[in-house]
Amino acid sequence: MARDGKVVRPFAFFRAGAQSDSRANRPILAFEDVYKYFRKDQPTLRGVNLVIERGEFCFVTGPSGAGKSTLLQLVYRKHTVDAGRILFAGRDVARLTSGSIPFLRRNLGIVFQDFKVVKHWTVFENVAVALEILDMPPRLVRARVAEALERVGLAGRGDDRTESLSGGEQQRVAIARAIVTEPALILADEPTGNLDPHLAIDILTLFEEIHATGTTVLFATHDHSLIGQRDHRIIALDDGRVLEARTGLRSWPGAADTRPADVRPSVADARPHEGSGLRVVAGSSRSGSSRTG
Ligand SMILES: Nc1ncnc2c1ncn2[C@@H]1O[C@H](COP(=O)(O)OP(=O)(O)OP(=O)(O)O)[C@@H](O)[C@H]1O
Ligand SMILES: [Mg+2]
Repeated sequence: MARDGKVVRPFAFFRAGAQSDSRANRPILAFEDVYKYFRKDQPTLRGVNLVIERGEFCFVTGPSGAGKSTLLQLVYRKHTVDAGRILFAGRDVARLTSGSIPFLRRNLGIVFQDFKVVKHWTVFENVAVALEILDMPPRLVRARVAEALERVGLAGRGDDRTESLSGGEQQRVAIARAIVTEPALILADEPTGNLDPHLAIDILTLFEEIHATGTTVLFATHDHSLIGQRDHRIIALDDGRVLEARTGLRSWPGAADTRPADVRPSVADARPHEGSGLRVVAGSSRSGSSRTG
């Protein structure tokens, strides 16, 4: 929205920097006893309680079908919860009218496994579209797109047709499109799933650089070789339930943890599943998952 050449950001309270509003002190995201049923007899999410504070970087992991994508899709209102609440900066996203959903999404950056860039558009066009729908003046669009492309390592590539870029570069275009509006929260759903391992690390590092500027990041991946390289908080889903570790796989229950007992994660009833997956042990649906007070 442009008034007198100034960009007015809708729903400013969603943004990390809006300190004057009391909502700014609330968690960026809270799940309160969230249930999602795609089939009546089998909930995809069952009783998810989670609090994501502003400025966190969290992995969301778990086996295929565990509900990782669903968890993220409920935040951006692709789907609506069947029970419980999801609060984004204190706002119940299920109660937003359909007319308000674009405002919600303007405050989110979303990155997908398959990039979802328009291949026959230029790199510039793919990023600029996120600002053009906000009616931003062209001069400002050019400046902001150039800055976003520089941040993702694509400075000077704006005129290239997107289909001429490599997969890793196309994902960088998608990330530039996600960050160009300066969202408070980035939702990345398997953003490295289509990339070689070394490119996956590059993209993870790029998200970490974005996180370092104050953006909250939820990064869904089932790739434990990626998760194991970092000490970010882990939110693990299994069978629609959640458990978590605050500081990476090293602090996962059962892993060697040399820290004092009072700073270890409170997921004593969970342990790594043999082989690749993390697994919720029977009966642990609540005790390890809740950070809501
Ligand atoms: N739109 C939908 N309609 C019906 N069922 C769905 C829908 N979306 C997800 N599901 C079901 O919900 C469950 C969780 O799916 P989801 O895509 O969230 O899993 P995931 O953890 O992201 O898996 P993956 O690692 O394969 O991406 C699956 O059983 C899936 O079939
Ligand atoms: Mg998925």
